[in-house]
Amino acid sequence: MSQKGKIIRISGPVVIADGMKGAKMFDVVRVGELGLVGEVIRLQGEKATIQVYEDTTGLKPGDIVVNTNEALQVELGPGLLSSIFDGIQRPLTVLREKSGDFISRGLVAPALDRTKKWYFEATKKVGDKVSDGEIVGVVQETPIVEHKIMVPPGVRGEIKQISSGEFTVEDVFGEISTQEGVHELRLATKWRVRVPRPIIRKLPPTTPLITGQRILDTFFPVAKGGTAAIPGPFGSGKTVTQQQLAKWADAKVVVYVGCGERGNEMTEVLKTFPELEDPRTKRPLMERTILVANTSNMPVAAREASIYTGITMAEYYRDMGYDVALMADSTSRWAEALREISGRLEEMPGEEGYPAYLGKRLAEFYERAGRVVVLSPEERIGSVTVVGAVSPPGGDLSEPVSQNTLRVTRVFWALDASLASRRHFPAINWLTSYSLYAESLSSWYAENVAQDWPQLRAQALEILQKEAELQDIVQLVGYDALPETEKGVLDVARMIREDYLQQSAFDEVDTYTSVKKQYLMLKTILEFGNRSADAIKKGAQASQIANLPVKSKISRLKWTPEEMIEPLIKEIQTEMDAQFGELLAALVVS
Ligand SMILES: Nc1ncnc2c1ncn2[C@@H]1O[C@H](COP(=O)(O)OP(=O)(O)OP(=O)(O)O)[C@@H](O)[C@H]1O
Ligand SMILES: [Mg+2]
Repeated sequence: MSQKGKIIRISGPVVIADGMKGAKMFDVVRVGELGLVGEVIRLQGEKATIQVYEDTTGLKPGDIVVNTNEALQVELGPGLLSSIFDGIQRPLTVLREKSGDFISRGLVAPALDRTKKWYFEATKKVGDKVSDGEIVGVVQETPIVEHKIMVPPGVRGEIKQISSGEFTVEDVFGEISTQEGVHELRLATKWRVRVPRPIIRKLPPTTPLITGQRILDTFFPVAKGGTAAIPGPFGSGKTVTQQQLAKWADAKVVVYVGCGERGNEMTEVLKTFPELEDPRTKRPLMERTILVANTSNMPVAAREASIYTGITMAEYYRDMGYDVALMADSTSRWAEALREISGRLEEMPGEEGYPAYLGKRLAEFYERAGRVVVLSPEERIGSVTVVGAVSPPGGDLSEPVSQNTLRVTRVFWALDASLASRRHFPAINWLTSYSLYAESLSSWYAENVAQDWPQLRAQALEILQKEAELQDIVQLVGYDALPETEKGVLDVARMIREDYLQQSAFDEVDTYTSVKKQYLMLKTILEFGNRSADAIKKGAQASQIANLPVKSKISRLKWTPEEMIEPLIKEIQTEMDAQFGELLAALVVS
């Protein structure tokens, strides 16, 4: 029998109930007549403090609270991909069918469709000994993702019965006899969201998550299993960057968590994603994507749930042996929810009113990223990469959410308001951003893209650095006072910025650049730079080089489709030969 309590106090999303005998921390409760979903976050005797994941308007003291005696869990099984969930994993499309655009409170709908039948193909047979994490069969969840059905953590024994065939997520397709008794196998399992799924061990990250975004892949790569933060002021491009990653990152599965952002941004995601095509498989991107939508008009407490729901689903696909990428936009909204709840709990506030455990919560979240040997007797490797947007008020990175995030993430993509206002997109500052993976990934690039990739990268960064120094000098003495060589450097730096770093998310071709094309583009620009430096050394004027017609062809590289890139590069080579040749010949004559 579940224990029924009664509300004694309501404070926004926080409700205090008495008579909650037997309740445990993080038990899920149903609050009031509507049965709003909430979670116990503090216990004092029989008094439970509950954060409610739905709008609490209309609740009153005396209303009942029923304990489900279960922790907040998500369902894991076929049908997650292509779905859109709210923070507590209710399928939004199903809810909308039930109650229209404004989702009625207290509505329950299981995350996974109960009626859909999946074809399960067993890969184990009766008599096989299996242990936790082991794959017992597969379901083709979408044309691009095979869903591995695994023995749940904590279960081991001998398969007593198993059959291939059509099953719903609740049907029993097999049985394992364990020391504790018979364990029934179903396509769907549950997992407590606040508990990381177990792994065997973490591995060092060695492979980049290729994003097709030049500034990221070339200069500030994130590793598969790594962590990255995108802090940026209002309107600087956090959402566009996150969405670009969700669209193009070479992960097998993408989980996109829209956390407390404006509804229209999420609508944009919900509208555009279903129409997008994966550049590698040519299949709809949604076939490998899960969206978790928790917009600013939804209750604040659900923001926290959306983060945990998202990361748990990500870990589940990782356990199958896949590379998963999770984007959270924006973790600041989650932190603000923590602050609001903490305030209502009258906890001792930490910095700027955030709870003292803010840093710990953020660290625990990013800790769940990683490239790991998953729990299984078969050696299987999977990864979860986590990319979190941070929205510091006024763009001031000294605030607590940014500081605590930067402490635990290894890549920093610094969005810059002044770049955004100059319409330099992505507005990622190349001088202040960093990737602590760059070093360890450079051998991957050397082996898989080109031997000289690390040198090209270093050379380009050096030119950009030099540009920044020169700009300071120009401020003092004026451009004309610069020696010709340095004017030449400024011109090449400008080419790197405009023809390489600037990348439009909205242009059909420019939106995604393969690493091979990135290499060819950068190599061409730097070759122009080398020839320019050489010509200047031989007496040419920087202005003569700046006017060479081949430059406009170089600037067209980014708009040129992948399959036409090599012929264009050949043309550029020929023209560079001719135009620099002519320039140098003229110098000799004069
Ligand atoms: N890579 C890009 N290519 C082209 N335009 C871009 C790019 N990134 C950002 N923009 C432009 O900047 C605008 C603002 O970007 P975005 O909505 O991502 O900012 P944000 O940081 O998420 O803002 P907010 O703080 O309001 O959430 C976009 O609508 C778009 O016009
Ligand atoms: Mg945004």
